[in-house]
Amino acid sequence: MKGVILAGGTGSRLFPLTKITNKHLLPVFDKPMIYYPLECLIKAGILDILIVTGGRHAGDFLKLLGNGKEFGLKHINYTYQEGEGGIAEALSLAEYFAAGEKICVVLGDNLVEKNIRKAAREFDAQPTGAKILLKKVPDPERFGVPVFDGDRIVKIEEKPKHPKSPYAVTGIYFYDPQVFEIIKTLKPSERGELEITDVNNWYIKRGEMTWSELDGWWTDAGTFESLLKASNLVARTGANNS
Ligand code: DAU
Repeated sequence: MKGVILAGGTGSRLFPLTKITNKHLLPVFDKPMIYYPLECLIKAGILDILIVTGGRHAGDFLKLLGNGKEFGLKHINYTYQEGEGGIAEALSLAEYFAAGEKICVVLGDNLVEKNIRKAAREFDAQPTGAKILLKKVPDPERFGVPVFDGDRIVKIEEKPKHPKSPYAVTGIYFYDPQVFEIIKTLKPSERGELEITDVNNWYIKRGEMTWSELDGWWTDAGTFESLLKASNLVARTGANNS
């Protein structure tokens, strides 16, 4: 399985912190944000990694990460998203990198306490389809929220005003190679983006989506509050622990 980190977008919710740098290069406790999704994949045994970035500071990723030697990697792949057409659009740039293999996608502003190796193994054993990881949160309206019928997810609602469950769909997704054909059929949402939630709903409709609940804490770091929370959580326990 290959890994894809999505680190494009303008980070407008963190302005002026993101006026002169990319959101994913901001500090979370003692490291730049991008280190966490990178170590998340590496510690799960996923070593063939593509970073999708964008904006005016994309070159700084190369200066920071180089070829990944510091992380024990032989090589890192990079690509560039023009504009910010959404998470699914950023993911579409990984088609040639994936080259028909399964992928694990991690949003560049997502952090987890525990190793995701178990979920990666489960997806390895899943013949086709996709897998998402859920976490119970106090503010599901900020995220993609699953709607359940018993244990089965019937759909995901993106930032619903009235969430139908207390779970967030975290920014760690597993996909089979169909994902790139699905993205080609998407239309931009009201916020003008190709939505990852539409991709996930495609798999759900066809009964090809599995899910599991993440162990340990999970947070995004894309708002002032969550950036502070992420730093405090990492200071307390560290991240990507086995
Ligand atoms: O954090 C999990 C949530 O991430 C999910 O629960 C939501 O379903 C999903 O839509 C997403 O929500 P956000 O609105 O918080 O995503 P945001 O626009 O902040 O983008 C998250 C990351 O995705 C960002 O750090 C970089 C990457 N991204 C985003 C956009 C819009 C790109 O690489 N390119 C883009 O054009």
